[in-house]
Formats: sequence, structure tokens, C-alpha cells
Amino acid sequence: MNICIVGVGYVGLVTGVSLSEVGHKVYCVDTDENKIKLLNTSECPIYEKDLGLLLKKNIKRKMIEFSTNHKNCFELAEVIVIAIGTPENCDGSANLEFLNSVVVQIAENVKKDVLVVLKSTVPVGTSDNVEKLINKNLKYNVKIEVASNPEFLAQGTAVSDTFNAARIVIGVNSVGSEKILRKMYEPFNRPIVVTDRKSAEMIKYASNDFLALKISFMNDIANLCEIVGANIEDVAVGMSYDERIGSKFLKAGVGYGGSCFPKDTKALRWLACDHNYELKTVKAAIEVNEKQKMKLVMKATEVIGCFRNKKIAILGVTYKPGTDDIREAPSIPNITYLLENGANLHIYDPVGLENIIKLFGDKIKCTNIMEHAIKDAELVFIFTEWEEITKLSFEQYKKLMKTPIIFDGRNCYNKESADQFNVQYYSIGR
Ligand code: UDX
Repeated sequence: MNICIVGVGYVGLVTGVSLSEVGHKVYCVDTDENKIKLLNTSECPIYEKDLGLLLKKNIKRKMIEFSTNHKNCFELAEVIVIAIGTPENCDGSANLEFLNSVVVQIAENVKKDVLVVLKSTVPVGTSDNVEKLINKNLKYNVKIEVASNPEFLAQGTAVSDTFNAARIVIGVNSVGSEKILRKMYEPFNRPIVVTDRKSAEMIKYASNDFLALKISFMNDIANLCEIVGANIEDVAVGMSYDERIGSKFLKAGVGYGGSCFPKDTKALRWLACDHNYELKTVKAAIEVNEKQKMKLVMKATEVIGCFRNKKIAILGVTYKPGTDDIREAPSIPNITYLLENGANLHIYDPVGLENIIKLFGDKIKCTNIMEHAIKDAELVFIFTEWEEITKLSFEQYKKLMKTPIIFDGRNCYNKESADQFNVQYYSIGR
């Protein structure tokens, strides 16, 4: 099939490359000239496992093309997939400005029947509104249908998530649209869930918000474990044997970050408010997470008292391992707080340094050698469970640090062995 992807951000690029890999001809379009230039030299603009290789391969065999010319791409397509960002407005609602301008462009330029697929995460009801907007702006005598097809990719595993998707959700309002999307996804051979458009849009938010709620619930219980003397990891293992609960997303820590959970929880809460409904569970998930993000530094304040002029090492700044993304990462408010309190920060991250420097500039010292950050430090904070960090032994901390005190926000180490090495070790819920 000929498929046009509008927006080569993270979702658009992974989707486009994956569709080209299974044999579709993909035309990707974006207004960012620099990004398109880069992609046309076969360079991948984001850090994502396996994506670069597949990109190069499919450019070479001419299955995927990149351009800034919307009109050309629209003309060639049977399906137009919109993967434009829907950033957060100040009030937490989703900003649909960019999406709507693309929709108008489609309506004004498409000269043959086409299916428009919304892959961007959008408020429930957006597909209906997009259809109205298209019909209002239609220039030629063509039929444009709209379908919802949310994505469930996690950063760092996005390519494998696409090829091994637990399910593909398609929200349609005609048999014709369903047929087209079934054909598009047939090569992936994954379970397909067909619903109406609003339900598909809701599935995306409900799935993300449920996972966020699961994490916040575990963090809440972890805090209580600390108070009553239980161990959250043992609790999680005990819970996980119940298939109704499952073993995933039970890991307590310094809270969730990234480009999805924080945004999608706020957006759904806002949508509910807009319909005069209070989504109490999601509200609680957001509040617990906000508090949890500062948990470690508050604990350190109790133990240490003052951070002024102390050399403090920060290990890991990305919101999770396997990505260079620091959006909504718990490390950010903690770094801000420590700087405000006069700490002398030395930061290590295997891939996130460039992004953290953009935020904090010369207020922080960065290194890609972990030992340099730790050497002579009076305190270590861990915000991301990168493998190289989890592999570091207490013995090494003891050898390198001025005073071996560790605040671990991702429960990277065995608590018992800290005592053995006489390291002052604080983690979450244990
Ligand atoms: C998430 C969803 O998993 C994905 O399906 C959706 O499409 C986009 O949002 P992503 O944000 O890339 O993906 O990462 P994910 O692995 O889900 O982790 C999100 C955050 O939750 C991270 O900050 C992570 O550290 C945290 N987390 C995750 C926990 O604190 N505990 C857990 O048990 C799992």
C-alpha cells in the first residue's frame, strides 16, 4: 500500500519505518527541514534501538522517503497517518492546533478518496471533529474517512513493541475503513481490536492512565512500607503471582516521567472536568507522582540537613533507561532543588547529558565516566536504573566517595549488602 505519514516525531518515524519494513511504500512528511535533511542522509534523529538500521535498510531499498512537500505525499497516498504531536496546554488539556492545521491541509489538497488515520494521542471525540473539519474544508469531490489508531509504543523498545504489539486498536465508523486498516496491518500478524472511534481514543488514555495509576499505587504502598517496616519488593513479588494483578509495572521508585504518562493523565483528567466529572483515581495518580518525584531529596534533607557546597553525584537523568529523553524526568525537579540549595552537582548519564546540559547549562558539571562523578562525592543520588549503574558495587562506592552515602530512587541494589560494606544506603519502600 502507499502510505503517507504526517509528522516524523518519535511515533511517526517508528511507525513509518516499521510499515516500510513489512513492504508498504511510505512517504513521510514534516515541516522541519533540518530533520528531513538528516533523514535523507539516512541518519536517525532519535536514539531508539534498531530504528537506525531499519531506516537505512528501507531508504536504500526505496521503501521509505522523506520530504517537506505535503501536497506530493498526499497525492500518492491511499492512507494518511497523522502522527503530529499534541502537546500539553497550560491547563493540562491537549493542544490540537498543529493537528487541525494538518487536517485542513489534507482537506484542501487531497484529490482522490483516502483514509485519514489519527495516530496522535487525542481527546475522545477528536476523530468526529476532524471529520467535520475535513468536510468543511474539502476542495475536491472526494470521500475522506477518518479512523482512530492509537499507538502503544514505549521508548527504548518501540520497534519491537510495533512488531510484537499486544494488540492493534482500530476505531472506525465504516466497514471500508476497517478493511483498509486490516490490510495495512496484516503483515504484522498481531491481534486486532476493532471498536468505534471514541472507544479507540479512550482505550489509549485508559491504558496509559491505568499503568500510571499502577505505578502510583505501588509508590503509595512503598511509602507505607517504609513507615511500617515492610519491603515493597517482597510485597510486589507476592502480589505478582496473582494473574489478575500481573508482574509488570509494580516497581516502586521516584515516580514516572516521559512524554506520555504525565501528559495523558492530565489530559484525561481535564477531559473529565470538561464534562463535569471528577476522575478521582487519575487525580490521585497524578498527586502521588508529583510528591514521589521529590521523595528522595526530601529524605536526604532529613538525613544530611544541608547540601551547600557539597559535591553530590547524580547518576542517571533520563526518565528511564534505554532513552536519551529527559521530558518530565524525576531527575529535573531534584537537580533544580539541589542547585537552589547550593549543591555542587556532578552528573553522569550514558546518553542523556546533552539534553540535561540544554536545561541547566554551566550550573552543573557533566561526565560520561561514572567514576569521575562519584569520586570524592559526599552523596550520590540515583534517578535512572541504567545497567552500568546497577552493576556498580558498594565496594567501588566506598573506595571512590568521600563519605559513602547513597540515595537510590530506583532500588538498584541489594539493601543487605550495603551494611556489609558500611555504606549508608537509602532506597524506596524498603
Ligand atoms: C509509556 C507506555 O508504556 C506506552 O505503552 C505508551 O505508548 C507511552 O507511554 P514510556 O513512557 O516510553 O511508555 O515508558 P514506560 O516504560 O511505560 O515507563 C514510563 C515511566 O514509568 C518511566 O519513568 C518508568 O521509570 C516508570 N515506571 C515504569 C515505574 O516507575 N515503575 C514501573 O514499574 C514501570
